[in-house]
Amino acid sequence: MSQSIYINQKIKSFKKNIFISGDKSLSIRFALMASQAVGKSKIYNLLNSEDVLSTLNCLKKLGIKLKNNKKYCEIHGKGLNGFSFKNNTILNCQNSGTLARLICGLLSKSIKSVILKGDKSLSKRDFSRVIKPLNLFGIKIKSNNHKLPLKITGTNYLRPIKWNEMLKSAQVKTSILLASLNTPGITKINALKSRDHTERLFKFLKIPISIKKKNKFDLIKTRGQYQYKSFIAEIPGDISSASFFIILALLSKDSEILIKNVNVNKTRTGIVDMLKKMNAKIKIQNYKISNGEEIADINVKNTKKLKAIKPNPSINSRAIDELPLIFLACSKAKGISYFRDLGELRHKEQDRLRFSAKFLKMIGIKVIETKNSLKIYGNPNLNLDGKYVVKNFMKDHRAFMMSAVAALSLGGDWKIHDSDSVKTSFPTFLNIIKKLGAKFNK
Ligand code: S3P
Repeated sequence: MSQSIYINQKIKSFKKNIFISGDKSLSIRFALMASQAVGKSKIYNLLNSEDVLSTLNCLKKLGIKLKNNKKYCEIHGKGLNGFSFKNNTILNCQNSGTLARLICGLLSKSIKSVILKGDKSLSKRDFSRVIKPLNLFGIKIKSNNHKLPLKITGTNYLRPIKWNEMLKSAQVKTSILLASLNTPGITKINALKSRDHTERLFKFLKIPISIKKKNKFDLIKTRGQYQYKSFIAEIPGDISSASFFIILALLSKDSEILIKNVNVNKTRTGIVDMLKKMNAKIKIQNYKISNGEEIADINVKNTKKLKAIKPNPSINSRAIDELPLIFLACSKAKGISYFRDLGELRHKEQDRLRFSAKFLKMIGIKVIETKNSLKIYGNPNLNLDGKYVVKNFMKDHRAFMMSAVAALSLGGDWKIHDSDSVKTSFPTFLNIIKKLGAKFNK
């Protein structure tokens, strides 16, 4: 049975330091890459959420031994294409688009077939974006009209490809990079910019890769069949999870938060840059580099005079999962905010552009939604006292957490369905808001 939470009072002003759980993109990538290393890798602070547990379960089904405890996860890599499994093994990716798209690439040389499945939301998502480039490598993928379930059959005769990645999708880029691991010769990707964790991880593991920046594109070249060694790494906090607390502190009277040890890779910090443009009191401090990734603390203070923004769409991919939260901040800003080129938001766990527009209308904000843009008529005096119900959002974890942040910072009497959705990416979300002083009932 799906659970709901009830919130009927704003959070009292708070001033706290918090840590949040490990980054989801990094956790999935580090686990998958560890499976192809030779020997035992140890990953500290791996996110303990359903998307990551699905990743570990898929690896186990592919014959990889692993131990996962509270402190670290140990993965016994069997080398490139070292999987051993029965023909037509079924892998369930549950809700994780990242896992599903990435594992398609990782199976590039598996001659036995794999059947890839997922939950209701994942089964609605498009896989043509990875099927097309992976077919060019020689990998066979049968699909249900470009949707799950997929039947993937790798090949011993992989050919390197040249691909133009025009969706700004890190999942597509990474799926190609993972397929290239088993492929002789040089794979080339001309990619519109998106999060670059995989490229950094290749460098960290000394896998041959070069990246040239050219205008809007990254020209990526990698040479396959390099057998890398096992590794030890620590996953920093997830900026996408931190963002719920960034917005909560920003919109809650006299509040301040310091979120420690967060991944602040430039390809992920679009929210910080957009909020700075809005006049938000937000700072990145204590910056360092670890395992090839950038880490810092993020300090945010409640800001009363937020102003509207009209960002250049080139920033969208640097905040792709945070855009709905930024829209929420714009509801309380002075002026009309205007976001363009938002089409990719319609391809997430649910159509997040539709959800955001409906959500803002529900809380009394005028919006104009087109196929790929959103105009938000901000109201700096926004203060809610009505009754609000949030349901039917395909158990989209980020939709649930954004609704809780709105309820706690703007007021009103709320019932928010599907609280179990937080398990997907941020199982400790409700514990942390409780520690900050939030009152809610289940
Ligand atoms: C992700 C990339 C993004 C993002 C998703 C995680 C990744 O998706 O929305 O939550 O880890 O590569 P796209 O690649 O579809 O933009």
